[in-house]
Amino acid sequence: MKIHHLLKPRLKTALLIGFLTMYSLPVVGQFPGAPAAPKGPWMDKSLSPDKRADLVISQMTLEEKISLLHGGGWAELFAHFAPSASRPATKSLGNAGYISGIPRLGIPDLQMADAAVGVTHGSVFGRYCTALPSGTSEASSWDLEVARAYGALIGRELRDQGYTMSLGGGIDLTREPRNGRNFEYKGEDPILAGKLVGAEMKALQEQGVIGDLKHYAMNDQENGRNYVNIKADKRAMRESDLLTFEIGIKESGVGAVMCSYNLLNGDYACENNYLLNEVLKKDFGFQGFVVSDWGATHSVAKAAMAGLDVEMPGNDHFGEPLKKAVESGAVPMSRLDDMVHRILRTEFAVGLFDNPSDRQEVDPEAGYEVALRVAEEGMVLLKNADRQLPLQSSGITSIAVIGSHADVGVLSGGGSAQVDAAGGNAVPAPPGASGFFGMQVWHRSSPLQAIRAKVPNAKVEFNAGTDIASAAALAKTSDVAIVFVNQHTSEGSDVPNLSLPQNQDALISSVAAANPHTIVVLETGGAVTMPWIDHVSAVLEAWYPGIRGAQAIASILFGDMNPSGKLPLTFPKSEADLPHPKLAQQPPPRPGDMKPLFPGTPFKQNTRQFDLEYDEGLKVGYKWYDAEGRQPLFPFGFGLSYTKYTYSGLKIAPGQAPTVSFDVKNAGTRAGAEVAQVYVTLPEGAGEPFKRLVAWERVHLAPAESKTVTLKLDPHYLSIFNVDKDGWELVAGGYKVQVGGSSRDTPLSGTWSVPGRQ
Ligand code: BGC
Repeated sequence: MKIHHLLKPRLKTALLIGFLTMYSLPVVGQFPGAPAAPKGPWMDKSLSPDKRADLVISQMTLEEKISLLHGGGWAELFAHFAPSASRPATKSLGNAGYISGIPRLGIPDLQMADAAVGVTHGSVFGRYCTALPSGTSEASSWDLEVARAYGALIGRELRDQGYTMSLGGGIDLTREPRNGRNFEYKGEDPILAGKLVGAEMKALQEQGVIGDLKHYAMNDQENGRNYVNIKADKRAMRESDLLTFEIGIKESGVGAVMCSYNLLNGDYACENNYLLNEVLKKDFGFQGFVVSDWGATHSVAKAAMAGLDVEMPGNDHFGEPLKKAVESGAVPMSRLDDMVHRILRTEFAVGLFDNPSDRQEVDPEAGYEVALRVAEEGMVLLKNADRQLPLQSSGITSIAVIGSHADVGVLSGGGSAQVDAAGGNAVPAPPGASGFFGMQVWHRSSPLQAIRAKVPNAKVEFNAGTDIASAAALAKTSDVAIVFVNQHTSEGSDVPNLSLPQNQDALISSVAAANPHTIVVLETGGAVTMPWIDHVSAVLEAWYPGIRGAQAIASILFGDMNPSGKLPLTFPKSEADLPHPKLAQQPPPRPGDMKPLFPGTPFKQNTRQFDLEYDEGLKVGYKWYDAEGRQPLFPFGFGLSYTKYTYSGLKIAPGQAPTVSFDVKNAGTRAGAEVAQVYVTLPEGAGEPFKRLVAWERVHLAPAESKTVTLKLDPHYLSIFNVDKDGWELVAGGYKVQVGGSSRDTPLSGTWSVPGRQ
């Protein structure tokens, strides 16, 4: 049977990329030793990266320049998957992409690895990579230190394995909660996501590898991702999705930005002059290089002149055709030099020339530590009626642990962000499972064992949850029932709706009916609906919690860790409350629409383009619910703790960059960390009748302790994008500030005004 017959239809469009990038096996034993230290005037470290890049370029031939601007072609990736004599030998380390360097000039290889939530697979130089909690989990910490630790760990593990570039850094905003890739991203707010990814990428690059932000831009759903034409107005884009990239770039000096598959206002993102030249390079001052998403290059001169610098993973456009375009003058030599300059200056800036690889074995213990910290800070306690949690280990004699393979592992998100499961998939794939984007991978971190370790004297029994009656029966005879439920999401498809799949809502309802002490633990990519919410006593959102997920879940359930995570995205009550109640679907193919997925492949896909209008405009995420007067299930910024925090004493020092200060007190008896959030509503003239997050601080507080938080507000975050003036503007008038523990719980408020120009 042919491989594509084994796949679900919805996976077909994604087949080949997954085939190549996720299951490419390294060819062991082809690699030369460490290259000799490069020589040349550009090795003078006192010169700037730009000067050094120019010195190299002055020595390069046309062919050498072109060779840096594309991958080795699809055959090169195939060489890893199934090496054979007819396929080219390659020095690629076997992850998503490879661009050979130029040894005579000391130009290093670009060894690119997918690394959104950890390095996806070890290179030939190492087998283990740390599966970190999802990007959404990281974002729920609202902690720039956690983001730094996340980035530093990924950078370290990339470097340990000989990779020189990350393809992580996903920050498309959660506009479409059904998007299969939301778990890779950092929620719905541009300032929160931008600051976090900025901290992450800065720390990653400090490890001496190139960072990347993706997918630029507006690539917010998987359905029809290659052919959807997003229609959005400039102001809405600049104040939402594009602002995320702007902040991420400014905070990190990231070396690469990956342009996305979709079209934006009529042009593919990878040949979109507005996105690449006008906004990214001119307005954001981005000095690095733009790399296409895999197979997202559609033209030669148009793409090059619009700002695309590197085609990946193939060479169909930026190989021989680009050379011809330069020779004919369709792409001037100055632009070619700019493309090469951007790559070389980035390589100098992160140290790839000066500090050649220092490969070593990945240290799993160091990875566990970071994974645990992120998971603990990233989990969000959504409900805790009657102080059901934390569980008191001394008083409990029996616990029912139900569902979601909680006996063996925790779920992870799929697609090109899928980190290999250390020790293998904890839940063997069912016979006939297709793998690739649809494969569910469970990391070996067993909640059952972690819970047992907390209550060694209690009877802790597991029920798979597949037979609802037997699960309810076990719950009935136990002191407490902990139901684990999940929603698998992956690149390559979106979820059809926000309901928990596989009858898990019914499982929860039945268990809750059998035991009044029912606790739900969610392992989801993003928001889900909860028809049973009033009938359970506690809900913990664990996201995809990574290789130490079970330990983090147990330490929160039993109170060793006081939960402090806050939602980086809104949980709606139902899909009817979304800006787009129905997921936009690519229309069926017309005659002639089915075309090869990539040149030379037998796999065909529907190439029919379709429009998706972002008519919600500026109202992304919580801004939509606020402006439309809709009540979410759980609002942005929400998260409970085992203690209670009070707010008082708001003071505002007005000005172009106002300062707000206030006191936060731990009014309970347990130490904890509160994420104090500052929201601002702009003057009426701004035309934004909803608040926006502009600042926050994570405050650690001992019982009864009080701290004064002082935050200087960045005028950029208080401004609107004025399309007529093509720039940011601080609107004159009255500003309202609200401070509190969530977007819908802001006990402090005040105002200040910005005078108009005389
Ligand atoms: C994904 C990218 C990924 C690339 C390489 C594409 O399918 O959209 O996020 O980096 O493949 O694996």
